[in-house]
Order: sequence, then structure tokens, then C-alpha cells
Amino acid sequence: HTITWDVQSAQKGGYKHFMLKEIFEQPRVIHDCLLGRVDHATNEVSLPELDAMPVPKRLHIVACGTSFHAGLWGKQLIESWAKVPVNVEIASEFRYRQPILEPEDMVLAISQSGETIDTLAGLRLAKEQGVKVVGLCNVVGSTIARESNYVVYTQAGPEISVASTKAMCSQLTLLTLLALYWSRRKGLMADDERKKAMRGLLGLPEVLEASLPAMRDKARFLARTYSEAKSFFYLGRGLCYPLALEGALKLKEISYIHAEGYASGEMKHGPIALVDPKFPTFALALNDALYPKVKSNLIEVQARGGKIIALTHPGLDLSVDHPWLLPEVWGPLNAFLALPALQLFAYEVADYLGKDVDQPRNLAKSVTVE
Ligand code: G6P
Repeated sequence: HTITWDVQSAQKGGYKHFMLKEIFEQPRVIHDCLLGRVDHATNEVSLPELDAMPVPKRLHIVACGTSFHAGLWGKQLIESWAKVPVNVEIASEFRYRQPILEPEDMVLAISQSGETIDTLAGLRLAKEQGVKVVGLCNVVGSTIARESNYVVYTQAGPEISVASTKAMCSQLTLLTLLALYWSRRKGLMADDERKKAMRGLLGLPEVLEASLPAMRDKARFLARTYSEAKSFFYLGRGLCYPLALEGALKLKEISYIHAEGYASGEMKHGPIALVDPKFPTFALALNDALYPKVKSNLIEVQARGGKIIALTHPGLDLSVDHPWLLPEVWGPLNAFLALPALQLFAYEVADYLGKDVDQPRNLAKSVTVE
């Protein structure tokens, strides 16, 4: 008898879609990103690719789409740990402005594919002005990697699904390492604080691996509960704000449901007017310094009849329709658990609605023309 199979389904390794496979690969991705980047004798970060490069006086992060969201997140760590001022810009904006670039500034071009035309144009603009560029790329030998003065690879392996998932996870890992690396070179962060961060990173793959199956079940349940919504808000503050933007982008990209990511403190300046019982909110209410602020923003949403799903941590006193508890890890690293929850929710909604998850309409994996 015959066995029916094709290359595509073989590559999916038993998963229904590449996107799902790639979401589940993230523990491995973090592990692979850290390979060669940790000195196991000292538990210190090592980025030999950048040793020859001075620590920038100011950094301009230039990127598109999901990579841009990773940049917004990375900015906060680089500023707080390495005290390097960071400006994050959408590449298609940056390339057509006259950005002020000083000789000791640097540009960090973040691109999974390394081929995005706007990011490449931003890189070229910086180089024309005599500013050095670091490329943070996944695809080895890609144009952005080749044209950058320095390149750091995310080592996430090929990403097939149009909607980016594991690439962002690898970018967040590298941005964390970069912030630690520059803070070490500037002698800023206390040694034990930096080691705590490193230990946290090294422990992430295991925590994530153990959490993913239950996360998927929860995502599937919530997807069925909320699949009729026509619009969603995604809210967060601080490090969770870029994640809110990313959660909204994932939902838009693959389920075609309208979603807006907002800094939750901005709700009162307009968007809250839209809230009603049919306009749900997906909130990030993790255990950080801004938790009390987020909580009070969510109470405002509830007062207008808005239903809420909230990623949160055990022991917090949040009262919402659907709390979604994540295991808690060290400080900023909680993003690595929130991100797959957002991805899985979008995935399950899109799959439930019968959408073409890996090949969403109107979208390309890599945008190489304007
Ligand atoms: C396209 C993809 C997105 C991606 C963006 C930037 O729009 O559909 O998933 O985030 O390009 O891609 P890059 O390869 O530069 O990270």
C-alpha cells in the first residue's frame, strides 16, 4: 500500500500549521540564541561579534512590523541597564526624514529576513551619514546582514509562517543580551543583578516548555468564547506596551479581526469611548511596578461594560472576566511567557474561524519592494 505525504506536511512535524510549530519551538529558540553567548564559567554575557565596536552614545533602532515591536521592548532594557538613549523608529518613517545622526550614534537594524526594503534603506541612509550600523538578523548572509558594519544573528532557524512568532522571541533574547553586554562594558549594572538576569534567561526554555501545552488549551477556550468579536483592544504599560502592540498585530494579521494596541494610560484620552459589552479588551496585567496603574485602567474599562481577558500572575488581586495566569519569572523576562500566550490566542481565533493561518491574505513574509 502507499503512504500519502508531502514535503510541506513533513516539515510541519505533526503540527497543523507552521505558525503553531514555530510558537512551540520558542523554548528551543531561546536556548539556541544563548548558545555561544554565555560564558559558563562566569555566567556572564559574551557577544564577541561586538567587542570591536564602541558602546554607542545614542542608538537608533530601525525596523518594521514585529521587529519594530521587539525594538520598542528592547529600548526599555537598553536604556535602564546600559543607560544608552534609544530612539525606536518605523523604518519607512526614518528613511524619509532627516534624522539627526551624530558621529558616535549607531543604528540597530532589526530584521528577521534581512531583506525588508525600508529597513535596508534606513541602514543605507545611516551609512551615508557616516554612522555605523549593527544588523540584528535571522537569515544568514541576507542583504541587511551583509551591508551592516556589525552583525548579530538571532539563530532562530527558518521561519516559514508569514506571521512572525519565534523570530520575535529570538530578537527579545538578543536585545536582553545586548542590554546586559553594554551595561557590563560601561560597568553599570551590579554584577549580581546581571547574573540574576543571565540565570533567568538560562532557565527560560524549561519554564516555557512546561507552560506551552496549558497555554494552548487556554487560548483555544478563549478563542471560542471571543471569536465573534469585531474589534479588540490590547492594553499594557511599560514593557507590556510593545507586547500589546504585538498581540494586536498578530490578531489582525491572521484572523482579520480589528485590534488596536494601546498604552492603557491613554485609554482615557479617547479610545475608551469605543468600549461597550461587544468590544472586548485583552490586557497585560503582570506583576510589575505598573500593575496598580494597569488595574485601575481596567476598572475603567469594566465600568463601561467591557469584557476583559488579562494575562496576569498568581497572587495578584485582579478581578476580570477571564484571568489568564502565567508562571512568574524574573522581572522583564516575563515577556517571554506573555508573548506566546498572545500568539496562541491569535492562532486559535484564526484557526477556529477557518482562516489561512500560514498564508494570510494580502501579506508577504518579506516586503522587498516599496
Ligand atoms: C512583513 C512580515 C512581518 C514582519 C515584517 C518585518 O510585514 O509579514 O511578519 O514582522 O515584514 O520583517 P523583517 O524580516 O524585516 O523582520
